[in-house]
Amino acid sequence: MKIVAIVGSIRKDSYNLKFAQYVQERYQDRFDLEILNIREIPFFNQDIEKKPSVVVTDFKNKVKNADAVLWVTPEYNGTVPGILVNVIDWLSRVDKVMIGKPSWIMGASMGNLGTVKAQMHLRDILFSPGINSPLLPSNEVYVGAVHTKMDEDGDITHQPTIEFLDSVVNNFIDWFNQQSQNVSV
Ligand code: FNR
Repeated sequence: MKIVAIVGSIRKDSYNLKFAQYVQERYQDRFDLEILNIREIPFFNQDIEKKPSVVVTDFKNKVKNADAVLWVTPEYNGTVPGILVNVIDWLSRVDKVMIGKPSWIMGASMGNLGTVKAQMHLRDILFSPGINSPLLPSNEVYVGAVHTKMDEDGDITHQPTIEFLDSVVNNFIDWFNQQSQNVSV
């Protein structure tokens, strides 16, 4: 299974990026996870949506060719960071490459609530008509106090978090396979 991860932080020491990298490495035998670079994606502009720059078309093609999308988001001011909303706007227009493509969400923050509000809003956005992405239900990954659960190399050191993540990955794969069967029936 080919999955692309879209991380809502472009800072170099991002916990969310490290979290995505941890998932990429730990579950490399379960799926191929590519973390997409969204650093250079320009602001969405409807004037150029039909002929966007190559950075945008490459990004959209990678999403289009993936079996699923993993969203890994911080929380900014109680919601989804603007950089993530921006790429979602690109994905929601013209060829609408997200429609029908399965998604799952994770998020990490230093606060205790672990991006609860951002994920709540992201879920709503992913159900909008231009995205319409089936979302893994009942497996909400909120990693609060992430700085106490991860070492400097980005390895998760908190055993309950690792075990929870293992269960979510299993549930995602089962759910994904179920989705694929439903599509082919
Ligand atoms: C934050 N942070 C934050 N944290 C939180 O739990 N709820 C929030 O609403 C916010 N709001 C917020 C706004 C802005 C503009 C910044 C820069 C930060 C803190 C945030 O969780 C923390 O900086 C994370 O480390 C950001 O994620 P990355 O970059 O480490 O992946």
